[in-house]
Amino acid sequence: MTILVTGGAGYIGSHTVLALLERGDDVVVIDNLSNSSKVSLERVTELTGKEPTLYVADILDRHVLRDIFSNHTITDVIHFAGLKSVGESITKPLEYYENNVVGTLVLLHEMLQAGVDSLIFSSSATVYGNPEKVPLSEECQTGGTTNPYGTSKLMVEQILRDFSLAQPEFRITCLRYFNPVGAHESGRIGEDPNGIPNNLVPYISQVAIGKLECLSVYGNDYPTPDGTGVRDYIHVLDLASGHLAALDHKAEGSSFKAINLGTGVGYSVIDLIQAFEKAAQTKINYRIVERRAGDVAECWSDSSLARQHLGWQATRTIDDMIRDTWNWQKNNPDGYGS
Ligand code: NAD
Ligand code: WQD
Repeated sequence: MTILVTGGAGYIGSHTVLALLERGDDVVVIDNLSNSSKVSLERVTELTGKEPTLYVADILDRHVLRDIFSNHTITDVIHFAGLKSVGESITKPLEYYENNVVGTLVLLHEMLQAGVDSLIFSSSATVYGNPEKVPLSEECQTGGTTNPYGTSKLMVEQILRDFSLAQPEFRITCLRYFNPVGAHESGRIGEDPNGIPNNLVPYISQVAIGKLECLSVYGNDYPTPDGTGVRDYIHVLDLASGHLAALDHKAEGSSFKAINLGTGVGYSVIDLIQAFEKAAQTKINYRIVERRAGDVAECWSDSSLARQHLGWQATRTIDDMIRDTWNWQKNNPDGYGS
């Protein structure tokens, strides 16, 4: 199979490209490197002995997409490309809607034109808004997103649902990721955020390495066991294998599916701090501050649909996730710029 991976140089993309190459697929990547470095893919080649074909280009450029579809016999598309910072999306809504929504429309047009009819889309647990209950199953209501990033994911899901009704030959899977963390166990590829991280795990990791002084814990008065926010952290390699499973099971059932990718277990901010202290053998300096606007108390998945439909379940523990994050951080204190 030849898989087109949009955004394949990024965090989740690079781990998925690695998994695809390891199982013998051919991979073509399109990435404009707006939030990544091609060093990630060089390292994927070093780890696998195989090279993906890289197009440094924007998915908004339909001519490049057309060239890709005519130069390669693409069987499936995994669509990671997009902007992902919740905070930035509030100050730059147009960029977010353009990259995430228009980018997907351009891609769909070109897939239709080229007769490529299998798509896996990176959605997010953010589409559930403020969860009505946990664990969150795919039956739970979506909507109520509080920022353009989340709304862009919701809009794309709706577009894909409508499109699949008009084009029933298309196989479309929206994978709703919970909180991806961790890195490849080699410590050669991992998450390399620009500037000061917004997300918990990269932030703690930079405190552990001494690049940041102190973690601000956003609230300890939530109705959770220790008062801090609870999330479903999932190892990026488990996510990668979830994409492989989605490719293998694309022909079953209806032409549109939305499936959670999580572990089904929630951990608090304090649990994560403790796991990090254990892995890095260091004290994590933190202080409790006000809640962060837009945060929810708890969010974790019911992951039974992924088990039923994809025969997939996450296998890595929170200790595995934090050990691999720390291994990546300490071997690459400045990410791919190290
Ligand atoms: P990332 O930023 O590391 O990867 C996205 C990649 O897409 C980057 O390499 C970037 O350069 C590229 N890109 C962005 N806009 C592009 C465009 N217009 N044309 C070509 N390339 C473009 O992010 P990630 O964490 O790997 O996330 C991948 C996908 O998963 C995103 O769609 C994101 O919204 C979604 N997602 C991420 C998380 C998370 O917490 N990391 C959670 C849920 C969903
Ligand atoms: C986790 C917990 C914070 C940072 C975000 C997006 C979501 C998805 C994944 C893409 C919460 C607490 C955090 C810090 C803290 N991305 N925290 N101090 O908010 O669950 O999800 O990333 O789709 O859309 O919203 O992840 O890692 O930011 O926060 O106390 O410095 O850690 O309050 O309880 P979140 P996160």
